[in-house]
Amino acid sequence: MAKNNNYFVCTSCGYETVKWMGKCPTCQEWNTFEEVTEVKNAKTEKVREMKLDAVEDINYSESSRISSGLLEMDRVLGGGIVSGSVILVGGDPGIGKSTILLQLCQYAKTESSILYISAEESISQLGLRAKRIGLKRKNVKLASETDTEVICQAITNNKPAVAVVDSIQTVYSSQIASIAGSVNQIKNSTLMLVNAAKQSGTSLFIVGHVTKEGNIAGPKLLEHMVDTVLYFEGESGSSFRILRSVKNRFGSTNEIGVFEMSQTGLSQVINPSAFMLEGRNINAPGTVVLPLLEGSRTLMVEIQALVCPTNFTMPRRMASGIDQYRINMLMAVMEKNTGMKLYNHDAYINVAGGIKINETACDLAAVVAIASSYKGKKADNECVIIGEVGLTGEIRSVNGMDKRINEAVKMGYKRAVIPKVNVKSVNNFKDQIDIIGVSDVAHAIEVSLQK
Ligand code: TYD
Ligand code: MG
Repeated sequence: MAKNNNYFVCTSCGYETVKWMGKCPTCQEWNTFEEVTEVKNAKTEKVREMKLDAVEDINYSESSRISSGLLEMDRVLGGGIVSGSVILVGGDPGIGKSTILLQLCQYAKTESSILYISAEESISQLGLRAKRIGLKRKNVKLASETDTEVICQAITNNKPAVAVVDSIQTVYSSQIASIAGSVNQIKNSTLMLVNAAKQSGTSLFIVGHVTKEGNIAGPKLLEHMVDTVLYFEGESGSSFRILRSVKNRFGSTNEIGVFEMSQTGLSQVINPSAFMLEGRNINAPGTVVLPLLEGSRTLMVEIQALVCPTNFTMPRRMASGIDQYRINMLMAVMEKNTGMKLYNHDAYINVAGGIKINETACDLAAVVAIASSYKGKKADNECVIIGEVGLTGEIRSVNGMDKRINEAVKMGYKRAVIPKVNVKSVNNFKDQIDIIGVSDVAHAIEVSLQK
């Protein structure tokens, strides 16, 4: 008799083991193992022959993409939604996943039917939300359903062009003996939905919750099963939202889409630089602007610093939107190379607009912002500052300099302080903007602050 193959899976990283364990040996998380029952199908028929195709013989058409009707969304997807693809959308609660997908139902450029299935909200809640964002379209059908089989059947019968399932953690298949949101349920429900979508040529959007670390809840396997993984990011206090792709079988993962949450849903931000610099106080010391590279786009961000004397033996160092360890390092470099006495000063660094920087190209801007606040001297407000700072106080080269300078010119900046080694690469901008090459921190601070 066939034995039931039961095993345990870590809900955090997907590690499998035959015995239950308290702590996962790979991700070191506690109490994350869940029992999984493997259902084995007895194979009786003969193994069929595999079909082999030469590349030239394969039929495909570029037109198999449909536009989502949202320029920013299309950009992230690599030029529109590929028919029959499965897209996982993750993000913090309340960030706007349901909102953007409902808006996509409104704007997607297709005449075929569109299904929006919510397993989280009742049909009247859905109706209310649809009204709020102004969803009025004959071919969009809404449903409130948690049963995976019922959802799959609806997809197979209706063959919609686009279907949304919100969310994978709340749908439930009665074939699987575990609660909704468990590894087993997520894995099997996704598999069933993906199969249904591929068979009916439906582009399927699946919403996924994220854990407190910011990963999609459930096994990593979920991300392997889908074609595209998008993350919706943003600070809770800010209306600025970024849609980022971390996996895309049909496009680059370098792209971002920028949105703003408003009363009537999300609106696209076509010029993010202007949006980020809105309300900037150019008359105070401690603020510096730099062009940040996000995939193929550049956006201007403002770095702010507040440096003030401390009464404590251990000064406070706080950074938001930028790596705190990096700031500690930069302040140590400044202390050594410029003679500023920062050890008895608290320092608070903030990136305005709730954006997160993970580029070393912002080092020099942070250094100048700190110096500006420390000295109480304004930084030149018509100047952008770009550069990586090394441990000996040298200014190192930065990639994509032409794109950054181009954005600075577009936004009307008059001067740019950049690494000396990069000056040659942006010679063609000489008539439009003053370029100042710097090679050490002290010199960079001197030229960037107003006299
Ligand atoms: P929602 O799409 O429900 O988030 P998620 O599905 O990711 O959990 O977004 C809910 C938040 O968005 C909520 O805090 C209210 C806000 N919101 C607006 O500000 N304007 C709107 O038009 C809508 C629909 C939501
Ligand atoms: Mg939601």
